[in-house]
Amino acid sequence: MELQNQEIILGVTGGIAIHKSLDLASQLVKRGASVHVVMTEHATRLVQPMQFQVISRNPVLLDLFNSGSDWKPVHIDLADRANLLAIVPATANIVGKMANGIADDALSTVAVSVHCPILIAPAMNGYMYQNPFVQANLQKLREHDIEIVEPASGALACGYEGVGRLNEVDVILERMTQILTTPKDLQGKRVVVTAGPTREYLDPVRFISNRSSGKMGYAVAEAAHRRGATVILISGPATAEPPTGVELRNVETALEMQEAILDVFDQTDIVVMAAAVADYRPQAFSHQKIKKTTDQLTIPLEKNPDIAQSLGQRKAHQITVGFAAETSDLLENAQRKLVAKNLDLIAANDVLAEGAGFEGDTNIVTLIDHAGNCQQLPLLSKRDVAHRILDRVVAMMQSGN
Ligand code: PMT
Repeated sequence: MELQNQEIILGVTGGIAIHKSLDLASQLVKRGASVHVVMTEHATRLVQPMQFQVISRNPVLLDLFNSGSDWKPVHIDLADRANLLAIVPATANIVGKMANGIADDALSTVAVSVHCPILIAPAMNGYMYQNPFVQANLQKLREHDIEIVEPASGALACGYEGVGRLNEVDVILERMTQILTTPKDLQGKRVVVTAGPTREYLDPVRFISNRSSGKMGYAVAEAAHRRGATVILISGPATAEPPTGVELRNVETALEMQEAILDVFDQTDIVVMAAAVADYRPQAFSHQKIKKTTDQLTIPLEKNPDIAQSLGQRKAHQITVGFAAETSDLLENAQRKLVAKNLDLIAANDVLAEGAGFEGDTNIVTLIDHAGNCQQLPLLSKRDVAHRILDRVVAMMQSGN
């Protein structure tokens, strides 16, 4: 009963995948949630409201003007009680209305009235989903912290193949549960996260870099934001999609990353360094493209500053967390880095292990703290790894060390 005491508004629009929201409503009730369904008129042409009423064990809201005898307008009453509004499936129509603050029926009015988190799971024909206006509307929603469970790819009800299928109920349920059960234990804290690779330029067109996609650091930034922190994300040129709700500061080189972090360090409570900072940079920068004149070319490199180490020397009240990317002697090397950089916690990952390290959506880390305690985590999504790291940080803050 992990959703006991949670009040959920389930918005249902007229998508052909509507049968999945019947299943979703039933799963939510089984987990202890109190579910209040709001249907659009188009939704009622596909499924009888009575079906949702029986499953949710609550009246279904269809119309703002014919909804009970209480003095309080029903949409405000629902909005005041809700812990989450989930719209499943969400058509292009409701996405457009929400992005533009339109409130012309029960569901769109509830959507502008709530002051709880909102999740939507769009489902539509692939061309409709790719439509630039629909995409722009979805982007607007993301920028306002609305969680979007992206549609999946496959056979669509309209006969097409492609992206547009409503994602699986399990996936939607997990995201809803995550939103509802994530503690706001970093409220009032300022968190800086570094992510992605750095680029060390040889000439205007060439650089030395590494495989970091930014996914691990972005997951930490997103998790900290969800837990209530004010987050600055200092990112090298990564390929991953940055999270919304955080302040993104883009940098390219290790020197730029150092400058960006020193700029905010004194006002920061927690720093998590997931960036793969280049240890060396070319000694000289050629302002012209280097010509192919010799059979061999030697490029002298010089050491970049160790950002984590310099923060370790400077820190006062801050908690600093690093990562160790290793290919051998994982724990010994990570322990050495923890001490050398005066870190409070280090997440050691063997970047050669299957499912760990660069580019993928998962990681396998061992957390080592300054007291030498080792906690080996199993293969987890980078999102879950991020939360496990923050759990440890919160525990350190609470215990005062
Ligand atoms: O971005 P992804 O594709 O998701 O990949 C994730 C990751 C593998 C990059 C991530 O999990 C990770 O291991 N990040 C740290 C990479 C790294 O540079 O490790 P390191 O062992 O070389 O450095 C140790 C720590 O010192 C790191 O926190 C690093 O940010 C920091 N460092 C390193 C060098 C340097 N000059 N300055 C630093 O601050």
